[in-house]
Amino acid sequence: MGATECFRWVLKFICILLATYLNRAATVQDSGDVSLFTLHTALRDGDYYVRWKVNGEYITFETTARTTGYVALGFSTNGGMAGSDIIIGWVNDGEVIIQDYHAIGEEQPLLDESQDVEILGGTDNGTFTTLRFRRKLETCDDNDCTITEGTVRLLWAFRDGDPDPAIGPQYHVTNRGAKSAYLLNPVKKEDVEPLPDDTYAIDIINDKVHIQNKTDTTYWCQGFKLPEFNGIHHLIRIEPIIQPGHEALIHHMNVYGCYHDLNQTDLHLKGGVCNTDNMPDDFKQCKVLIMGWAFGGE
Ligand SMILES: *[C@@H]1O[C@H](CO)[C@@H](O)[C@H](O)[C@H]1NC(C)=O
Ligand SMILES: *[C@@H]1O[C@H](CO)[C@@H](O)[C@H](O)[C@H]1NC(C)=O
Ligand SMILES: *[C@@H]1O[C@H](CO)[C@@H](O)[C@H](O)[C@H]1NC(C)=O
Repeated sequence: MGATECFRWVLKFICILLATYLNRAATVQDSGDVSLFTLHTALRDGDYYVRWKVNGEYITFETTARTTGYVALGFSTNGGMAGSDIIIGWVNDGEVIIQDYHAIGEEQPLLDESQDVEILGGTDNGTFTTLRFRRKLETCDDNDCTITEGTVRLLWAFRDGDPDPAIGPQYHVTNRGAKSAYLLNPVKKEDVEPLPDDTYAIDIINDKVHIQNKTDTTYWCQGFKLPEFNGIHHLIRIEPIIQPGHEALIHHMNVYGCYHDLNQTDLHLKGGVCNTDNMPDDFKQCKVLIMGWAFGGE
């Protein structure tokens, strides 16, 4: 046993101890009763819905997707398929099959050695496939994503036709996407305070930025001039504006304030890669962070 492997075993041991403790601490055990789902979201309107509830150390899901083939629900920290934890299921002649997978790249997921999903039921009514299953929030399997209070990107996919038993679920699906969710502590729409009548919004948009393929990360900087304000204004909410389909490309956005006299010409430039010669010297003085957003934020 190598040092790294040993370390992994120690971690696993600590994890199992902790899970045992949580198990005892959980006063209500999940009976598998799926009648009371408390939380839900549409992963794609009209096509894929997920409902879930948390009970003690378990989280129970019900997925409903417009297919008679197979349905996938995955968990990822960054919205990418690499490193994600994926549950895939289908109904074949009334038999419900739901399996625990993981992906190491943008390719066909691999079956986990440790199967940590419990099947609670499923139906295929000729139009929609509904699957019910539960798993522990913390499974202690390195190939599973621990579900925490933080945000997770839910990966979803569905495809017609049940998987070929010899090959398993194929990677190439046209119906797929990702959506941020707080599985344990979601912000409910009705809990968000309505905006006062005199609220207005200012959009700050990096328009038509070309992300270069040759670098892993592009930092893009652009100057924006705020309108002239009359009296004191309060900033009460921020929201990301992300072009549909580009969700997986945007990692974070920061807005910095410039409190010095800017060369006005710089503000009308198209923007450029940060911290290069293209970036106006003026911008280097804008160091006061006014707001920040990172993937998973609302
Ligand atoms: C199939 O299930 C879906 C989702 O539950 C439902 O909306 C639809 O009406 C059902 N169709 C039939 C034919 O039962
Ligand atoms: C970007 O680069 C990757 C490999 O580095 C390549 O597989 C992919 O086709 C490229 N995409 C474009 C749009 O050039
Ligand atoms: C303002 O910026 C422009 C473009 O970066 C530059 O050509 C010009 O010389 C600058 N003006 C001053 C006063 O620094």
